[in-house]
Amino acid sequence: MSEISIYVKRGANLQTTEKFTLDLSLGDSTVLEALQIIQEEFDDTLAIRYGCRFKQCGLCAVTVNGNPRMGCMTKVKDGMVVGPLEHLPIQKDLVVERRFITENIKNKKLFPQTLNHSINPVTTKEFDILSKCTDCQSCLSGCPEYHFEKMDSFAGPLFFVKLAQLQNHPQNEHNYLEKAKELGMEMCKGCAGCPCPYGIPIKKLAINPFLNELNQ
Ligand code: SF4
Ligand code: SF4
Ligand code: FES
Repeated sequence: MSEISIYVKRGANLQTTEKFTLDLSLGDSTVLEALQIIQEEFDDTLAIRYGCRFKQCGLCAVTVNGNPRMGCMTKVKDGMVVGPLEHLPIQKDLVVERRFITENIKNKKLFPQTLNHSINPVTTKEFDILSKCTDCQSCLSGCPEYHFEKMDSFAGPLFFVKLAQLQNHPQNEHNYLEKAKELGMEMCKGCAGCPCPYGIPIKKLAINPFLNELNQ
């Protein structure tokens, strides 16, 4: 066991950074485990969100030293600064707004317009990869173009992935190019990092195929 210090950003405007010193097994313990210990043993008012504790639910995303990371997939290091995801409204401490994901899917009609059920639904490799999205929101936090308040003009990479899932659905015959424009995909900067902790190559599978067609 080693004594390590973790700094946690708190408050609606991240105005407080609190230091917690814990005894942990470095190399084994995850950021989520450290946060659970803080909540259970030091301060039960600390708000954190998690579900599965093993990569499946997408609920434990936070920033670590300013970069979006899944709490249950990231090993603890001494001196880490943990905060909420960026560009999203903070509900409390490390918990950010999520309701808008399902609201947007409904309001922006990001569900199949038509599906041809006579087509044998053999999925492509692209569809299988895009389907790994857990709605963790890391990509929104890491996107320099995304701002929650302006999501009507630029929906953000999470929703581009949703659109690409529709376009790549094995029974889809609809072209979602107009929807890509509606979501503001043309404002995408094509930056080098478009981070997804689940390994989805967002630019390659969810953005470039639409932009290539729009730029023809
Ligand atoms: S490539 Fe586009 S969607 Fe991805 S992070 Fe950059 S601006 Fe955002
Ligand atoms: S695309 Fe990746 S980073 Fe974005 S919400 Fe889905 S799983 Fe998370
Ligand atoms: S707790 Fe479910 S992905 Fe981390």
